Amino acid sequence: MLHLTSRFVFCALLASVYASCPPRCECSEAAQTVKCVSKDLRSIPTGIPGYTRNLFITGNQISRIGPESFRGLDNVTNLSLSNNRISEMEFHTFSGLLRLRSLDLSNNQLTIIHPEAFSNISQSLRELNLSRALYNYSSVMDLAASLQRISMANLQVLDLSDNSLIYLPSHTFSRMYSLRRLQLSNNSLVAIRSLALSGLESLEELDLTLNALKTFTDEGLQELDSLPRASLLLGKNPFTCTCGIEPFAQWLNRSQDRVRDAEGLLCAFPPSMRNTSILTVGMLTLECQQRDVGADLALQTSYVFLGIVLGFIGLIFLLVLYLNRKGIKKRVYDMRDACREVWEGYHYRFEIDSDPRLSQVSTSADA
Ligand SMILES: *[C@@H]1O[C@H](CO)[C@@H](O)[C@H](O)[C@H]1NC(C)=O
Ligand SMILES: *[C@@H]1O[C@H](CO)[C@@H](O)[C@H](O)[C@H]1NC(C)=O
Ligand SMILES: *[C@@H]1O[C@H](CO)[C@@H](O)[C@H](O)[C@H]1NC(C)=O
Ligand SMILES: *[C@@H]1O[C@H](CO)[C@@H](O)[C@H](O)[C@H]1NC(C)=O
Ligand SMILES: *[C@@H]1O[C@H](CO)[C@@H](O)[C@H](O)[C@H]1NC(C)=O
Ligand SMILES: *[C@@H]1O[C@H](CO)[C@@H](O)[C@H](O)[C@H]1NC(C)=O
Ligand SMILES: *[C@@H]1O[C@H](CO)[C@@H](O)[C@H](O)[C@H]1NC(C)=O
Ligand SMILES: *[C@@H]1O[C@H](CO)[C@@H](O)[C@H](O)[C@H]1NC(C)=O
Repeated sequence: MLHLTSRFVFCALLASVYASCPPRCECSEAAQTVKCVSKDLRSIPTGIPGYTRNLFITGNQISRIGPESFRGLDNVTNLSLSNNRISEMEFHTFSGLLRLRSLDLSNNQLTIIHPEAFSNISQSLRELNLSRALYNYSSVMDLAASLQRISMANLQVLDLSDNSLIYLPSHTFSRMYSLRRLQLSNNSLVAIRSLALSGLESLEELDLTLNALKTFTDEGLQELDSLPRASLLLGKNPFTCTCGIEPFAQWLNRSQDRVRDAEGLLCAFPPSMRNTSILTVGMLTLECQQRDVGADLALQTSYVFLGIVLGFIGLIFLLVLYLNRKGIKKRVYDMRDACREVWEGYHYRFEIDSDPRLSQVSTSADA
């Protein structure tokens, strides 16, 4: 009897929980929506009705979320947790949300991201908003590790803007086979490294505006070329129009149809080049070209100089010869006479040695 009663009480409690709404939240069964907005909540409230499809728990003071936070919320498709203070995301945080399609974690302070935080997240996830979600750029490694672990085969939109990211670990997006839009604007990226964008064959739009890109290296340009279908936004970067910009300027000329803001890309440095369109940089003579030409010129000049010096030395030599012409003449004659004497002496001895009669004469004379 007691058993039955307690069971009844439990059922009633369960029913009331499902029928009712958590304190400080607004629930609309008709709209299948629950909103707990700016209510100073410290954790995810319990008792969220099972019919909920759209769940907004925004503008509160929630600091950590874990697997127990969203248990039994099979029907939730849109979950927004933006503008909280979430710093910690535990193991399998989202694995109870079987139908999740859109997850908004923007404006949080993620510091500790468990490597399995996103494990078992619904394969129907389409949109993930991590704009301004990281406390500082140190968290990007953890985020990348947790994203690499799992496939998000249907994810189409990923927003990582406003995060002060300095670099992108390689393979971060390599299992987001369907990603169409990647937002990386307003970070501090200085380069796009090899494999940073690997796996993004379906990407249609990449936004890299407002970063710290001074130029693109060959590696970075190759990485951009590995996105066959993506249109690109590259504006508002501090492009530095010195020698290193040339490969990028040439690439930009070839890729004008893909770079949507190609016309608006301007040099920020050096001051003499400020606000010059990068598309025109290729036609101008950059300082590096001038330096190359200058180097050639210097080389030519040094050859000419060497020639003049050698010519001058030759001239002096001839002058010395001219001034000494009498002495030289005398010496030449002396030498000729000496040669003649030697020659005649030789000739004489040769003739004596080679003539048997003469040698006989001489031997008999000796005898
Ligand atoms: C999800 O919604 C369906 C239909 O709207 C309902 O039958 C089911 O009980 C809901 N799930 C939960 C956990 O409440
Ligand atoms: C739910 O998310 C989808 C994107 O996945 C979006 O199109 C839709 O407007 C969202 N619904 C609500 C109520 O926010
Ligand atoms: C995660 O998914 C695997 C199968 O994909 C399942 O065996 C496991 O129980 C799930 N874990 C959680 C916490 O839901
Ligand atoms: C992500 O959230 C930010 C701020 O909440 C918003 O401005 C931005 O439009 C969202 N991104 C997407 C792709 O919806
Ligand atoms: C980021 O925040 C963590 C935790 O407060 C801290 O240990 C780390 O030094 C910070 N990193 C940077 C680059 O500021
Ligand atoms: C860029 O992000 C920072 C925070 O990281 C923010 O304060 C700033 O307003 C953002 N700038 C723009 C233009 O969105
Ligand atoms: C470059 O353009 C910006 C914005 O149009 C302007 O404020 C700045 O004065 C310009 N600088 C130079 C050197 O022309
Ligand atoms: C872009 O390249 C074409 C040849 O493909 C060339 O004719 C043109 O002058 C280049 N434009 C600029 C601005 O360098």
